Amino acid sequence: MRKVPFFDYPRLWTDERDELLNIIDSTSSMGGFIMQKALSDFENELADFCRSSYSVGVANATDGMEIFLEAIGVNPGDEIIISSHTMLATASAIKVAGGVPVPVDIGYDNLIDPKCIEDAITSRTIGIMPTQLNGRTCDMDTIIKIAEKHRLFVVEDAAQALGSEFKGKAAGTFGLASDISFFPAKVLGCLGDAGAVLVSDDKLYEKIYQIHDHGRDVKDGEVKRWGRNSRLDNIQAAILSYKLKSYNSVIERRREVATIYNERLSHLNELVLPVAPDAEPDHFDVFQNYELTAQRRNKLKEFLAEKGIGSLIQWGGTAIHHFKHLGFTQECPKTDAFFEKCIMLPMNIFISNDDIHYVCDQIESFYRS
Ligand SMILES: Cc1ncc(COP(=O)(O)O)c(C=O)c1O
Repeated sequence: MRKVPFFDYPRLWTDERDELLNIIDSTSSMGGFIMQKALSDFENELADFCRSSYSVGVANATDGMEIFLEAIGVNPGDEIIISSHTMLATASAIKVAGGVPVPVDIGYDNLIDPKCIEDAITSRTIGIMPTQLNGRTCDMDTIIKIAEKHRLFVVEDAAQALGSEFKGKAAGTFGLASDISFFPAKVLGCLGDAGAVLVSDDKLYEKIYQIHDHGRDVKDGEVKRWGRNSRLDNIQAAILSYKLKSYNSVIERRREVATIYNERLSHLNELVLPVAPDAEPDHFDVFQNYELTAQRRNKLKEFLAEKGIGSLIQWGGTAIHHFKHLGFTQECPKTDAFFEKCIMLPMNIFISNDDIHYVCDQIESFYRS
């Protein structure tokens, strides 16, 4: 039987073993493990790629959010509005920084609904942190207008969205700061945990830099404040530099995969598909995930597994406001309905066109039966 895994992790290594071994060898031979040239080179390349003034490599994107929120300043009880459809990390970073995460409902594209943001603003709200989910950037014009009207800051959880754009501007560059994740299954993934913060303001950059490296200053290493260790390893940075060189072709391939799925599946009334790659000129989506809703979702998932096809329900099927035992009391009915039916199909650069057609054939046969 044909096998189409949801994500073929070993191929991250086996497909490029020689190149990766060379990178590990040359970085290690120089003894350049921590805070060396491979890291600063990658930070510069990433900032250039996103057209941001600075990027700071960190140990993972969750640390990145905690660090930029600490740098901005969050007081106990300060509320920050987030999407109900995001990783728990978005909310936990706010909690760790001392604030209160306030999830709100999603809109037609499954990202935070700007209309719900305004309804959730209280006298304690200090900021909005939209998640640029599934490799798509929110309508940032509307979100920034709301923020300006209510004097709130905007930061972004862009963990899933490197290379995505709204009106030609890169995800992660709309607010005061943002995080990017390089978890192996991300569009730009390394061989372990890694992340980065994007930031443009000079003073905020200095603070973020200090917090991620034991409070030490970027210019002379002098300790300026309390900090922590959340640095991006040089070997991972060197691997990310290498992969960033071919990143645009990776994005193009993912958009091709999405196009084939959309063309093949759009006639099925039982499915609601993501927005097609060229359907909305304001958005450039990089398809970190191909997430849709499907009638009889659980049965479909089982059927696909029997046919050797991997699929995944994002966040294990739990939206942020479903974590009642963590204190959430918000109602998000659109997210609830979405989570009854959502599923992600294989979306990566390892999948062949034949595999995609096989997945689509099986989905068609499921709904015909
Ligand atoms: C939307 C979102 N935010 C935050 C994170 C956390 O990223 P990391 O694993 O690098 O901490 C992820 C990772 O999956 C994510 O998808």
